[in-house]
Amino acid sequence: MSATVLIGAQWGDEGKGKVTDILAQQSQVVVRSQGGNNAGHTIEANGNVYKLHLLPSGILNPQTLCIIGNGVVIDPKALLVEINKMKDSGFSVSNLKIDARAHVIMPYHIQIDELSELQRGDSEIGTTKRGIGPCYADKSQRCGIRMCDLLDGSLFETKARENISLKNKMITHVYGGSPIDADAVIAEYKSFAKELASYVDDTTVLLHEAIKAQKRVLFEGAQGTLLDIDLGTYPYVTSSHPTSGGACVGAGIGPTYIDSCIGVAKAYTTRVGKGPFPTELFDKTGEDIRQKGNEFGTTTGRPRRCGWLDAVILKYSVRTSGLTKLTVNKLDTLSGVGDLKICTAYEKDGKVITEFPASLSELEQCAPIYESMEGWDEDITDVKSFADLPVAAQRYIEKIEQLCCVPVWMVGVGPKRNQNIIK
Ligand code: IMP
Repeated sequence: MSATVLIGAQWGDEGKGKVTDILAQQSQVVVRSQGGNNAGHTIEANGNVYKLHLLPSGILNPQTLCIIGNGVVIDPKALLVEINKMKDSGFSVSNLKIDARAHVIMPYHIQIDELSELQRGDSEIGTTKRGIGPCYADKSQRCGIRMCDLLDGSLFETKARENISLKNKMITHVYGGSPIDADAVIAEYKSFAKELASYVDDTTVLLHEAIKAQKRVLFEGAQGTLLDIDLGTYPYVTSSHPTSGGACVGAGIGPTYIDSCIGVAKAYTTRVGKGPFPTELFDKTGEDIRQKGNEFGTTTGRPRRCGWLDAVILKYSVRTSGLTKLTVNKLDTLSGVGDLKICTAYEKDGKVITEFPASLSELEQCAPIYESMEGWDEDITDVKSFADLPVAAQRYIEKIEQLCCVPVWMVGVGPKRNQNIIK
């Protein structure tokens, strides 16, 4: 049995897509278990760049069963755009299965996401405005529409009419927006249902069968630990569980089926959206990292906030997801940056804080305590073995292992699939 959960160990955008794609080559099943098209994975393969949002990264391998699990929220329009793009690039996509229990993002979710962000003004969450939060809210409110409902024409129509009538009151009276045209939405979504029907299945059964048959399964995480609705920097979080526990609930399997949990981190820290970020850099070094690391969102194009590596965050990820190893990406971005810093703890009111705080106001008052590390100037993008890295780069990775008490399994030194060092 070999089932591996891969998660982001920071605020998302750690380069999980690339790691997933490498692991997907050795996996027979790749599963998305949370989030939706708020995620963005850029994959470079065979000289081409693929931008995936909802499709599991394993979609490039026709032999790999790709599952969009029950815990994912699906915008059918966005999914069809992605499917058709892949088909145009020569991929069959017949290896895709979508769980019948997955919730559907409706146009009112997107509109309410936009309007509620506007309403919040300066205290906006900074969401991707893809309707993710409002869709998960309806799921919890028990008025959501699932893929199995979408495929049942009359049930879908009844549920959609009920919801649209209520949501229109909210959109027009609370937010002053324009109402949704129920007839147009129902007609459009019925046509999506026809196009997606062949992909819909009970993927919890397919996954269980695959695990029982000793197939190698990879759970591909989206977002990251600090965006988890429970464990993240609430309220500046997404509405799902990007930590390893979310993989079980969102794919319909028990934790005893999981063998290992890999955390993906960058060699520094980035985040998009609002909220406290103790190691954020506002100087030229931060700008250099942003430009050199091309730190602009795949989904929204927004510039990402950049800062030094924060080991308090990594340790929190290791603990809350039970990580067994780490991948450290984008080490090449730090070449030539000068001396480096790693945050090992925080200081607040004269006290040293070693565990990531629950309270955002406490986090806001935390000043990072840094350990300085020697930097390196060499271009490392062609380095193939750990021993061939500049000594300072080796020490940097070893320091991460020492601080987090888990081995670094792989180091990313460039965006291409072969620009990795297996340690
Ligand atoms: P939502 O998921 O669109 O509701 O956005 C909530 C928060 O999660 C915002 O701060 C987003 O920027 C952030 N977020 C959502 N998806 C990603 C991702 O894939 N990478 C990084 N941040 C994300």
